[in-house]
Amino acid sequence: MTDVCRHDVIIVGGGAAGLRAAIAAVEADPEISVALVSKVYPMRSHTVSAEGGAAAVARDEDSLEMHGYDTVKGSDFLGDQNVIEYFVEEAPKELTRLEHWGCPWSRNEDGSVATRAFGGMTTKRTWYATDKVGFHMLHTLFQHSMRFDRIVRYDEHFVTRLLVDDGNVRGVSALDIRSGEVRAILGRSVILATGGAGKIFPFTTNGRIKTGDGMALAAAAGVPLKDMEFVQYHPTGLPGTGILITEASRGEGGLLKNSEGDRFLVTYDYGVGKKAELGPRDMISRAVVQEIEAGRGISGPYGEFVHLDLTHIGREKLEARLPFVLELARTYAGVDPLTEPIPIRPVVHYMMGGVDTDIDGATSLPGLYAAGETACGSLNGANRLGSNSLTECLVFGARAAQHAVLYSRGSSEGNESALLAQAEAEAARVSALRRHKKGSEKISTIRRELNTTMEEGCGVYREQASMLATVQTVASLQDRASDLRVSDDSMVFNTEVIAALEMKNMVDVAQAVSVSAAARLESRGAHTCRDFSSRDDENFMHHTLCYLEAGGPRLDKKSVHLGHWEPEERKY
Ligand code: FUM
Repeated sequence: MTDVCRHDVIIVGGGAAGLRAAIAAVEADPEISVALVSKVYPMRSHTVSAEGGAAAVARDEDSLEMHGYDTVKGSDFLGDQNVIEYFVEEAPKELTRLEHWGCPWSRNEDGSVATRAFGGMTTKRTWYATDKVGFHMLHTLFQHSMRFDRIVRYDEHFVTRLLVDDGNVRGVSALDIRSGEVRAILGRSVILATGGAGKIFPFTTNGRIKTGDGMALAAAAGVPLKDMEFVQYHPTGLPGTGILITEASRGEGGLLKNSEGDRFLVTYDYGVGKKAELGPRDMISRAVVQEIEAGRGISGPYGEFVHLDLTHIGREKLEARLPFVLELARTYAGVDPLTEPIPIRPVVHYMMGGVDTDIDGATSLPGLYAAGETACGSLNGANRLGSNSLTECLVFGARAAQHAVLYSRGSSEGNESALLAQAEAEAARVSALRRHKKGSEKISTIRRELNTTMEEGCGVYREQASMLATVQTVASLQDRASDLRVSDDSMVFNTEVIAALEMKNMVDVAQAVSVSAAARLESRGAHTCRDFSSRDDENFMHHTLCYLEAGGPRLDKKSVHLGHWEPEERKY
């Protein structure tokens, strides 16, 4: 018999969005009990590795209108403008709140909050705490969450399924990684905040844990995934490891140079215009690929790259503003940025798509909410501006929680025996997986093939033929992933079982990405298709919805919430 735990709101994911949601939920209702379920200890959530900063208007020269416009334009006009307006309004309040909770934002000499330049933003509006922003934000949120004993943590619990009764989500089944037992965690609403799915690609800034779990859970419960074709490549990853070299390096004056030493972004028309190194990520990533294709890349053991040159900035500023970049480049690339350029190339960083939600974080399944990178409330459209996502986690983590609390008040507990039967079935599934020594497929083989095909079909530049080939390959990997061989049958910390469960999630998410990409016959934001090189507002000014159904994926459309920012040609 599975162990049963009862709460009001269940949050899956312990990063910035999950922790902010947990705090907002207990603040919204003094009686409420919140379960915070995470497959890792919260301070190991991927938020911890965010570097460059969080965006919000902070200076007189800036305005909400400017932040809104930059975000709409950055999204290639696919962002929902009601969501963007709400976001820019709440952003300064959230970052100030975080300061009151202890976040050590870097300061100007006069004591005001310091802001730095970031790509696609017309002015300095990225708040920072040197270049370890995610670390400081996550610490602040985690420590603040510990003030509330009504937040009950289930650390190192892997959620295997949403428990649904009578058309409402009413809990989750979770594998306690430490003991190997599956428990039923029941509640009246569930918020998914598990981050993105960069690990479906071979070369990514994302940590090992970003396997699209929340997206796959929602899809398995019939909720569509939205705009999955839009995968963000960050222009500056370290070759080999994919470790992020923050955009703040360019915000502080870093320059991109090719093998000839030319600052190529200003010498050719790559779309980034006068912004050059401070252009948006999609355009700069394309420019780097074009340079390499034109033979002006530099060869290394991990393929071709270009240089990020910080040498002219000077030791004092680099040590004060970018200490982590210095450390990462020295340790993982063997170069000292004080005197040598850093090798970089575009790297998968972020999913603009995710679980389809409205502005409140609500999904089409009553009681189910999503926030942060897991969600697609359509803040980012076809291309996210760097530093909007940490703020997004706060703004929409809080809003989703407030609405989940309201929903929970009016919702019943459901039929407990039906919910427990689902949890029992999950316990049996996990137990069978643990004993599946005769499975014919190795997890590592499926992962390698999945990574390879995703890079071939859904890279910086895409082609219709290779996208369609990827769709086919992913479909066959999905069949093969149902017969994974698991050789470890132990209960305690059985990481092989977790890897098998994650693999299933990854192929599901990859299916949504590839199928959605192949159906968008235009180029917009991060989706650049060589066969359809321009944006086609007449036919494609819509969100893509992808339902993962038993008979195969099904696509639908959802209209974009336009507003006072009219679509125009995206030029910088
Ligand atoms: O480059 C960076 O520091 C990344 C920031 C972001 O993705 O928002």
